[in-house]
Amino acid sequence: MTEKVMIFDSTLRDGEQTPGAKLNQEEKLKIAKQLARLNVDIIEAGFPVSSPGELKAVQNIAKEVKGPIITGLARIVQGDIDDAWEAVKYSERPRIHIFAGSSDIHIQKKFGKDRDTILDLAVEAVKYGKRLTSDIQYSLEDATRSDEDYMCRVIEAVIKAGATVVNIPDTVGYAVPEQYGQLIKNIVNRVPLIDKVTLSVHCHNDLGMAVANSLIAVQNGARQVECNINGIGERAGNASLEEIVVALLIRQDYFANYRTDINLREIYKTSRLVSSLTGIPIPVNKAVIGINAFAHSSGIHQDGVLKDKSTYEIIDAELIGGRAAVMVLTARSGRHAVKNELQEMGFTLGDEELEQFYHDFIDLADKKKEVFREDLEALMADRLAYAAPTYTLDYLQTVSGTKSIPSAVVKLKKEDSTFISTDCGAGPIDAAYNAIDKITGINPRLDNYNLRGVTEGRKALGEVSIKLTFGEKTITGRGTSTDIIEASVKAYLHGINKYIMISALNGNGDYKKDIVKGQP
Ligand code: KIV
Ligand code: ZN
Repeated sequence: MTEKVMIFDSTLRDGEQTPGAKLNQEEKLKIAKQLARLNVDIIEAGFPVSSPGELKAVQNIAKEVKGPIITGLARIVQGDIDDAWEAVKYSERPRIHIFAGSSDIHIQKKFGKDRDTILDLAVEAVKYGKRLTSDIQYSLEDATRSDEDYMCRVIEAVIKAGATVVNIPDTVGYAVPEQYGQLIKNIVNRVPLIDKVTLSVHCHNDLGMAVANSLIAVQNGARQVECNINGIGERAGNASLEEIVVALLIRQDYFANYRTDINLREIYKTSRLVSSLTGIPIPVNKAVIGINAFAHSSGIHQDGVLKDKSTYEIIDAELIGGRAAVMVLTARSGRHAVKNELQEMGFTLGDEELEQFYHDFIDLADKKKEVFREDLEALMADRLAYAAPTYTLDYLQTVSGTKSIPSAVVKLKKEDSTFISTDCGAGPIDAAYNAIDKITGINPRLDNYNLRGVTEGRKALGEVSIKLTFGEKTITGRGTSTDIIEASVKAYLHGINKYIMISALNGNGDYKKDIVKGQP
């Protein structure tokens, strides 16, 4: 029989304390609703006494979000507790969360008081809260730097006063796992009434050990874990919710006795929502939810994963509602990875075609660090536009000179049809491009034009490369000829044919069949 570990989400309270992560009332409500879909057990919606807007935000959540317990934070001060109650009382399952420091550093330096005074105030606060609602959580702030005997006294006293949950925070992220686990074990063994309450942990990440500390606490008796989406929170943040719940699942062999009721498939969505509303980006290498967590870049890894995912993957992205693993194609990627990516895009290449395509790919990957699907699509369109162009040039005549108006006659072929058009322009190339536009009905913007001699001498072959913009798409075209006007027209047609191919590739699957050999 597995024991349930309750997930207390503090993204909207401790998470919102992340510098720069201010949320308005609507945003808080949106996140709270998503947390309910994620099926967290408790939502700490805010610190109501901090401002009227904050109180209202917590109140809205208490009124509208069904399922989880809704709690608000309060110091050991009656006004705080009144405001917390005012905010959470509309919830079907309200909780007041009261806290005060238990370390001498906090007691003396923050409060200027002594241990017994704080203990008495804590007991009074819990009793006061208990008159308002039955579910009272008490947190011993800075527990991990507190005297253990004193802490045990406080815990026993607040339980007697009516606390239902007792939280042992590692407020400054100071604990190391073995020591923290031992602390939780000592509390379980020493405090007489501890089995009457839920023991909770709340770990900060200052030394990067928040998740490890939370997990070892579970093994030693904690049954509520406080954590935040994406690990956001004060300073280096709090324990990441997603890392804790996924670790408990993936390492079932190790954490066999514990489970959470989190709806894992909502993790990805929740994580993205919190990031976009708080404006706190998710580090690319963040465990479980960073974009690189399911990306493979090294050729050896890509090859291994394509043969069998388990070679380099322990988490299935779909488990958390994310996209399946992606291969980041770079110059280190092998043929196998490129072929697989093309197949997923709907292209099946024979060995010889693949070899040619791979050659183009490596050329591009050498210039560009990472090659995306759009790049592969453009490479494919490039080959198709050469191999099976939509429009081909059948006839070209241009007029230009110091005293004449530049004009062009262009004849194009498309399948069995021939189209003829004339136009004038700023020069013969412009005139020819205008004439082509009349035939195709496509009117791209010319953004870049480059001419270079491929060979040497007066009879040199000229190569024209151009950049064309079609709405939001930019496409390159290339053409060669000993006649630079003809090279320019070929480059233009190449760009247009590519555009038509790309539109077709995106629009329907007709082109996504076996690819005929291209001849770039
Ligand atoms: O870090 C902490 O100690 C807290 C308490 C208010 C629980 O956030
Ligand atoms: Zn905290």
